[in-house]
Amino acid sequence: MNKRIFSGIQPSGNLHIGNYLGAIKNWVKLQNEYDSIFCVVDLHAITVPQDPEELRKRTLEVAKVYLASGIDPEKCSIFVQSHISQHSELTWILNTIAKVSELERMTQYKDKTKNKEGVGMGLFDYPVLMASDILLYDTELVPVGKDQVQHIELTRKLAERFNKRFGETFLIPKPYTTQASENIMGLDDPTKKMSKSAASEYNYISLTDTEEIVRKKIQKAVTDSGSEIVYSDDKPALKNLINIYSLFSDKSTDEIVAMYQGKNYSEFKTGLADIVVNFLKPLQKKMKDLSDEKVLAILKAGAEKVRPIAEKKMKEVKEKVGFLN
Ligand code: TRP
Repeated sequence: MNKRIFSGIQPSGNLHIGNYLGAIKNWVKLQNEYDSIFCVVDLHAITVPQDPEELRKRTLEVAKVYLASGIDPEKCSIFVQSHISQHSELTWILNTIAKVSELERMTQYKDKTKNKEGVGMGLFDYPVLMASDILLYDTELVPVGKDQVQHIELTRKLAERFNKRFGETFLIPKPYTTQASENIMGLDDPTKKMSKSAASEYNYISLTDTEEIVRKKIQKAVTDSGSEIVYSDDKPALKNLINIYSLFSDKSTDEIVAMYQGKNYSEFKTGLADIVVNFLKPLQKKMKDLSDEKVLAILKAGAEKVRPIAEKKMKEVKEKVGFLN
């Protein structure tokens, strides 16, 4: 039996090339080596207000991105978090062993709530829901970006605490980070990760952006002083663009620098835009060819595949904590 991995993306906002390069591209490879479960985490998405119709649309859209990128429902399970009620159920139980002080220490929570009033309870509890996602399925490895590692550490702690108190129940998972997931920074600010919630749309390239918009965003991307194409830490903006080029072209950063020797930023940016457009066009075509009905059927079948695992684990948890059967 292969090791199990679990990961998910929230259907809140446009998926961008950072999501693809940092997560999905890697999952497409991992599905061949691991027993893989990929989730569209809609329960997480509503930790900030969502328009209901928009949420439904985006949930299908994230699934379409998974499928169009090559995630194969024959090889792995793709499903929607809210279709399996055990995620919410386990969250409640884990809430009773999680500590307020632990959750207050979560960096993402602190970032998301800085200078905000009336912070929602869901945002605070977000990591416990994530722990439930992972622990329900005896997940061994969780492919995530570095920013999520703290949540995996909390997951491990909660699992250990539960096991200690009620007996062996949960497998202790490990984070699985890859270089690429740290690499993709905002086009307007190379010191911060590319983000779908960024203030400016010039921060990211959405997977659904048209060719015209992609070219415009790349032309407007900030660059560093100088004019040569070099790959170095003191040229973070250029470094980020070369990383993107490299990941989409499967060429090394050295090769790219060599290709653009003696050429200027503008020529490099045109080359990069070509590479990105050539990637996005077939992806968008595949997404368009997937009907909502077909995708929904795949998601429902995915939920039926994982449901027995979640049910079994939840039954065990209820027994352990002392609920009447
Ligand atoms: N919190 C993750 C993120 O923002 C998404 C997520 C939710 C997730 N549940 C998960 C990732 C379980 C891995 C495993 O990227």
